[in-house]
Amino acid sequence: MTDPVLDAIRRRRVVRAMTDEPVPRERVETILDAARWAPTAGNRHLQRFVATTDPGVLRVLRMVSPGMIQRPTAAITICVDRPLAQSYGFAPDARGLSVDVGTAMATMLLAAHAVDVGAGPVSSFSRAAVGVVLALPEGWSPEVIVCLGHPAPARVAPMAPTRHLGWRDLTRWVPEDPADT
Ligand SMILES: Cc1cc2nc3c(=O)[nH]c(=O)nc-3n(C[C@H](O)[C@H](O)[C@H](O)COP(=O)(O)O)c2cc1C
Repeated sequence: MTDPVLDAIRRRRVVRAMTDEPVPRERVETILDAARWAPTAGNRHLQRFVATTDPGVLRVLRMVSPGMIQRPTAAITICVDRPLAQSYGFAPDARGLSVDVGTAMATMLLAAHAVDVGAGPVSSFSRAAVGVVLALPEGWSPEVIVCLGHPAPARVAPMAPTRHLGWRDLTRWVPEDPADT
């Protein structure tokens, strides 16, 4: 069976080499709009997205992000609005908050793929510095930066896979399926 959604899930790959051609603003907006539909704990939508296409901001963002191998022409930083989360009764370490960041991130990566924009998530950065660079409001914690840009012919090797994992390697049936042993 070929299904466009399953096909996109299988084909999407992290892009770590990008050209300097700007990503049109409408495509960034399409990606932001897609992320708004990602599921959130209690349907509270406690993530906040900080978008930029400004070359100066992107340059400084990269300087404080060791994990940012690519040179993006746009970036969306997914933040958690901590004071808002607290006002809804979420504990600071509530699992839902991190899961919400993940659902938004995965949705953005797939949406970017759908509109022919390369995307790569980055979690290795100085939170304090990113907060300053983006002038984040009090209590917004930056969690993941989604880099966006047009894919360049790969000059950067993808991160080495530990080994190929099929879904069976990742899955355990309960009760155990005798056909699987
Ligand atoms: C939470 C999270 C954080 C990540 N942080 C980084 C990062 O800092 N730098 C980077 O190059 N890739 C980062 N990645 C991308 C993964 O390395 C990538 O998904 C993995 O190598 C598999 O590549 P694929 O998605 O193209 O299959 C991150 C992915 C996730 C889910």
